[in-house]
Amino acid sequence: MGLTTEQACEPSCVLRLRDLEVRFKSGAHPAEALRGINLDLRHGEVHGLVGESGAGKSVLLHTVLNLNRGAGTVITNGEVQYDGRNLLALFGPEIRRIRGAQIAIVFQEPTKHLNPGLTIEEHILDLLRYHLGITRRPAAARAAELLELVELPRRVLRNYAFELSGGMQQRAMIAIAIACNPRVLLADEPTTALDVTVQRQILDLLLRLRTELGLSVLFVSHDLGVVHEIADRISVLYAGKIIETAVDVDLFRAPLHPYTELLLESVPSAAMRGRELKVIPGAVPDATAVPVGCSFHPRCPIAAERCSAEVPELIQQGQQHAAACFYPGELGARLAR
Ligand SMILES: Nc1ncnc2c1ncn2[C@@H]1O[C@H](COP(=O)(O)OP(=O)(O)O)[C@@H](O)[C@H]1O
Ligand code: SF4
Ligand SMILES: [Mg+2]
Repeated sequence: MGLTTEQACEPSCVLRLRDLEVRFKSGAHPAEALRGINLDLRHGEVHGLVGESGAGKSVLLHTVLNLNRGAGTVITNGEVQYDGRNLLALFGPEIRRIRGAQIAIVFQEPTKHLNPGLTIEEHILDLLRYHLGITRRPAAARAAELLELVELPRRVLRNYAFELSGGMQQRAMIAIAIACNPRVLLADEPTTALDVTVQRQILDLLLRLRTELGLSVLFVSHDLGVVHEIADRISVLYAGKIIETAVDVDLFRAPLHPYTELLLESVPSAAMRGRELKVIPGAVPDATAVPVGCSFHPRCPIAAERCSAEVPELIQQGQQHAAACFYPGELGARLAR
């Protein structure tokens, strides 16, 4: 039985993804972007979602908010359960009332998602007016309060996004995201474009806001080292499937899936000091050509015959640890010999 059963999470979850499948049908071959995702976001936790570029991380976050509906995108199965409702069954004003107000998203590239014709204050005022019906004067006071919360000078309210540095843009985007006091924050690689010092500051800010505002955060990154710094629990995504999920320390101490094991060997850390950092050979398969059997088998150093024929399910291996591999822990054991 997998970790993410209804019983395992009830009533501590704020958001639950069940059997989520998403396809793109724009090209000659349909792309299988998400292939049966089960994920629980618990109240007040930071859940890290990690995987190489192309694994399906952004598609997953966009699907939660029902943002990637449109030409060629088909949600073929599954539910996003929030507050007793399936968000995927909501349309128009129903989903817009939740998006930005109760579940907010911070994107990797703020300039692509902020309106270049609006100041930071205008973004905030628009949100407060739309979702909470707050009039200009109290909304302006709230905007100033938000800037303080994300440690930006008040003058930034009058700035347009292009006038700000990368770190300031990201802080402004976080201020906009939390304007309406959301319960859930989705963060899509919010620190990837930033240098290490600013990255650390943004991670600290998110952690502080989680505590102060009681946020539950789904934090996405391709960088396991970054996820390790912020997450309570981690799910590893590969070719549109979660292949391992565990409490952060367990995942680092005793990874079970060969892909996670290899990802860890590619992360600079104290444990790896003096050892050569490894690069995982090969690439994440294109979503239009996912290998049959275990999708990792062409890159897996311990793949056996059954791996190219059968699909390993995500099986619980410990109290809070699950992996989708026929030989969990085997690569780690071999490397240790
Ligand atoms: N609109 C789209 N049409 C077709 N394929 C898409 C579309 N958006 C994403 N994909 C494909 O889905 C897969 C996952 O993409 P994405 O979620 O952006 O990856 P990540 O965020 O993990 O880097 C990729 O193979 C990507 O090419
Ligand atoms: S199921 Fe087989 S190919 Fe897949 S990760 Fe495990 S050992 Fe490797
Ligand atoms: Mg992405």
